[in-house]
Amino acid sequence: GFELPAMAPPPPSEQPDAPAAGAGAISKVLIVMAMETEATPLVNKFRLVEAPAHESIFPKGATWTRFYGNYKDLHLDLVMPGKDVVFGVDSVGTVSASLVAYASIQALKPDLIINAGTAGGFKTKGASVGDVFLASDVAFHDRRIPIPVFDMYGVGARKTFAAPNILKELNFKLGKLSTGDSLDMSPQDEEMILKNDATVKDMEGAAVAYVADIFSTPAIFVKAVTDIVDGEKPTAEEFLQNLISVTAALDVAVTKMIDFISGKRITDL
Ligand code: ADE
Repeated sequence: GFELPAMAPPPPSEQPDAPAAGAGAISKVLIVMAMETEATPLVNKFRLVEAPAHESIFPKGATWTRFYGNYKDLHLDLVMPGKDVVFGVDSVGTVSASLVAYASIQALKPDLIINAGTAGGFKTKGASVGDVFLASDVAFHDRRIPIPVFDMYGVGARKTFAAPNILKELNFKLGKLSTGDSLDMSPQDEEMILKNDATVKDMEGAAVAYVADIFSTPAIFVKAVTDIVDGEKPTAEEFLQNLISVTAALDVAVTKMIDFISGKRITDL
């Protein structure tokens, strides 16, 4: 008998795109974290892989690391400032966070940034160890410039991108975040933190917010409380004691958030 030849596949340009999530749906999410201990469970959970050095989006010499992959409808990039070249510890703090945020936003053009990490909490403001907060506002508490207007520039208070549906659906607490480059708290820091009306205190948030705002990228700050700043225990001790267990709470929170974000538009958050 006579058989029709198999139909040739259409040329690539005519092939339909992979089924897209709804129009305007978020596709690229950049997760910025400072500590490897906090990030590793998420890297595993989302099955992210480390970008090899030879195809790095980052300039030569940078210690910044990137893990990436597709999860549900999203492309995820998780970046960290990496280890300090001299001391070998995670490059925590504002300087490294803003640099890796800057380079990542430039290269990846994310639709949304999530800055996730641990924080100190104030029990007088309702924080307990293990709580996960979304930051409604961020500000600095260690940039004192007592000259009119420079004072406000130093504090750099700003509202974050409001995500009322994430807050409501996922049961996070809401509070203001104050950022500084010290884990402990000097009396001057304390005074500024009070003025900032902060419930949680970290070492990166306001720096990431500053960079995200430059590039008009919405950013969400999710902070899990490892230590009570206005409590009895020494901060460093309490932080190290709770880091692993609170990291688990943080990672559950970030996973729930990513699950919620998948398929949604920025305006749905
Ligand atoms: N991260 C965790 N605990 C912290 C604290 N007390 N201050 C700043 N950053 C923190």
